[in-house]
Amino acid sequence: MRITVLGSAAGGGFPQWNCNCRNCAGLRRGSLRATPRTQSSIFVRGDTGDDGILFNASPDILEQIRARPALQPARGLRDSAIAGVVLIDGQVDHTTGLFMLRERRGALPLWCTDPVAEDLTTGNPVLSVLGHFCGVERHRIEPDGAPFTVPGVPGVTLRAQALSSKAAPYSPHREAPVPGDNIGVLMSDAASGRSAFYAPGLGEITPALFDTLCGADAVLVDGTFWTDDEMLRLGLSGRSARDIGHLPQSGAGGMIEWLDRLPARTRRLLIHINNTNPILDEDSPERAELARHGIEVCADGMDIVP
Ligand code: MLT
Ligand code: MN
Ligand code: ZN
Repeated sequence: MRITVLGSAAGGGFPQWNCNCRNCAGLRRGSLRATPRTQSSIFVRGDTGDDGILFNASPDILEQIRARPALQPARGLRDSAIAGVVLIDGQVDHTTGLFMLRERRGALPLWCTDPVAEDLTTGNPVLSVLGHFCGVERHRIEPDGAPFTVPGVPGVTLRAQALSSKAAPYSPHREAPVPGDNIGVLMSDAASGRSAFYAPGLGEITPALFDTLCGADAVLVDGTFWTDDEMLRLGLSGRSARDIGHLPQSGAGGMIEWLDRLPARTRRLLIHINNTNPILDEDSPERAELARHGIEVCADGMDIVP
């Protein structure tokens, strides 16, 4: 099983179009040692075959496909290596790219939970809109750990777990969460038994979730914010990281403390990194602190073999 990071940034990307925070301005000026990042998505293939699973459809999907020739194997006049799409929530940064897949020949195979399907046919009716183009062949994800597979991607088994995070702002569940608004996915290689857990939006680590993390060979988890009040202190938002469903890295009960408790063999990676996060500056003390804890920061194009 091979995981390719298509987009490692949170909503807005890095740099964000209208942002002049230290990171965004520094990247544009060339005064910061940092790499641009597109919005949140990964592509997962088994050991055999060209086709894979697209996790989340980023607003930057066309740029991501152009940047990774493996996603266009060119076996026919119209072709794509995307065998199916798995959505971990209905957020704008994970679903807007669905519009860009409308030219597909035949219905788009799409896996999501019931609450996400509801949001994507009401508050943000992208699945209904696609009905006027390629159409969608929707498959239900039960966030109960039951195994499922995506046809055309042999050797990769998926299991979804409900997470405590946040539904999109347009969702009726935004302030009244239901199980399945957000999921994490454990992906396992059937041949080797190796596994990775992917959770770009993660607000709380429950005992059940910690068990899952302990059983994975690699974890790709919420790297959105360094501090809970990151956006508040910059005057960019009235809400804390935890308010919008993201567990910050630093401080008591933060992501670093949790990752420290995983088995020594676990590969720890942060993904879905907001442009305000100081870890994007490769010379920052925060980035050095992650390195001391053996925590990696995902970048676009990174290949991970758990
Ligand atoms: C989030 O992860 O909190 C959202 O994707 C933010 C957004 O909509 O950009
Ligand atoms: Mn997001
Ligand atoms: Zn910024």
